[in-house]
Amino acid sequence: MEHKNNDCNNLTPEVIKKLVESAHEAKKMSHSPYSKFRVGAAILTEEDKVIKGCNVENASYTLGVCAERCAIFKAISDGHKKFKALAIACDVIGLNLAPCGACRQIMHEFGGDYLIVLSQPDFTYKTITMNELLPFGFDDSDLNREKINYTN
Ligand code: THU
Repeated sequence: MEHKNNDCNNLTPEVIKKLVESAHEAKKMSHSPYSKFRVGAAILTEEDKVIKGCNVENASYTLGVCAERCAIFKAISDGHKKFKALAIACDVIGLNLAPCGACRQIMHEFGGDYLIVLSQPDFTYKTITMNELLPFGFDDSDLNREKINYTN
């Protein structure tokens, strides 16, 4: 995937840089003894609050959760539903980690215009909007479309 640097949502480079730093801080909390793959995420809410999350793995492997979903669930449960940006951090040199498909769908639930910041361990980053990251996400507009009749 080709990512480009853009400055949608009028976020300054300083604000984005701080969010990237928060994602790297969150990464330090990662519980990833099985994959040894630390991930951190930091959300900038509409009220300019930063909410962090990390991946949390489990000995029952499939129960682990990604950093992005962890951050989103924390934000939602703290009453924040509108996001300006979400930054992601991992340890892989040269990789602007992009969220997995499951996380993209969860992220899509909360809007298409917010900025996704894909950072590297050296704190450089690329940005992409949520709509660019998941162009055909499923949402409530699909649930409410006219349906064929059925019986069961
Ligand atoms: N992981 C994330 O937290 N976010 C991603 O975007 C990709 C993968 C986690 C899940 C698991 O704990 C570890 O990274 C290895 O897959």
